[in-house]
Amino acid sequence: MALPDFSAFPLYLAPMAGVTDPIFRSLCKEEGADVMVTEFVSSEGVLQAWARNRRYVEFCEEHRPLGIQIFGSVPEHMAAAARIITDAMHPDFLDINAGCPVPKVVGKNGGSSLLKDLPLLQRIATAVVQELGEDCPVTVKIRIGWDAEHICALEAARRLQDAGVQALAIHGRTRSQQYGGKADWDIIDACARAVSIPVIGNGDITTPQDVQRARETTAVAGVMIGRAAMNAPWLFRQAREYLNTGIIPPSPTPEQRLDFMLRHCRLAIASGHYGDELVTMRAMRARILAYAKGIPGTKPLRPALSRVASYEELQQILRQVN
Ligand SMILES: Cc1cc2nc3c(=O)[nH]c(=O)nc-3n(C[C@H](O)[C@H](O)[C@H](O)COP(=O)(O)O)c2cc1C
Repeated sequence: MALPDFSAFPLYLAPMAGVTDPIFRSLCKEEGADVMVTEFVSSEGVLQAWARNRRYVEFCEEHRPLGIQIFGSVPEHMAAAARIITDAMHPDFLDINAGCPVPKVVGKNGGSSLLKDLPLLQRIATAVVQELGEDCPVTVKIRIGWDAEHICALEAARRLQDAGVQALAIHGRTRSQQYGGKADWDIIDACARAVSIPVIGNGDITTPQDVQRARETTAVAGVMIGRAAMNAPWLFRQAREYLNTGIIPPSPTPEQRLDFMLRHCRLAIASGHYGDELVTMRAMRARILAYAKGIPGTKPLRPALSRVASYEELQQILRQVN
């Protein structure tokens, strides 16, 4: 169990609850993602019902190096949950979520609400690091602050380094921004220069040129790609090629992109990860819409795609693409 090789400027698939399930992670791995992080799991859920919550963090060996992400607000509980997960799953690293903005998580003082209490964030990180010792490296994912008046990424980065955290992913937005506005890469860069542990930059990476710019103009040790991977998982491969050769391989054709979408649906149905075909296709709707974005002729079909209930119906709708 070890962190990725940062000398290679790793490209991470960002953790996305409800999106980065094992099937999508496998597809992104095929498309060149170097490192992945599971969807998050609640430390309280792990302690109370590990058997039920385990499904959020299942992974295949081919996904390695992979981190399992947990959230919570009680240091001892986070440490105990980290121990259960590490002993059962042997991830390459254990990642603490200190960035999630959703009320369900923030309301329990987890996720980004930890940015309002940096001593607590540090105590959580210290407790998890001490519990896992040499067994598993600990990383943390933060946002740059709670809101524009309370940017705290620099202090958080220093405290987390002091706690023994071995790498830090920074999403360059505040909690108040949710997913709007622009990620602030100057703050990410300042953090990367202020600490000696690797900092992975995250936010608004959508092209190979964005990846190259992050490598050339900031001190980050790698980048993490989220929403853009939902639209174009091949971005990882294109970005790596661009970093290596300066040439961007062509994007798949519209037909190939639709085939990719269909294959993802078939794999998801066959896996049974979400349940039967109807439940799976419901879970796939947001993904289908993300794939369709930018494919000529799909715009008028979006209402139908957003209600699609079976694989056959999806095929029928896509036959209308011209
Ligand atoms: C649907 C969705 C679910 C997300 N779930 C998580 C999560 O479970 N843990 C986490 O740390 N971040 C989560 N994020 C945030 C992403 O990891 C990432 O920080 C954010 O999308 C910014 O990167 P991007 O601009 O490349 O999308 C989620 C984002 C989205 C859009």
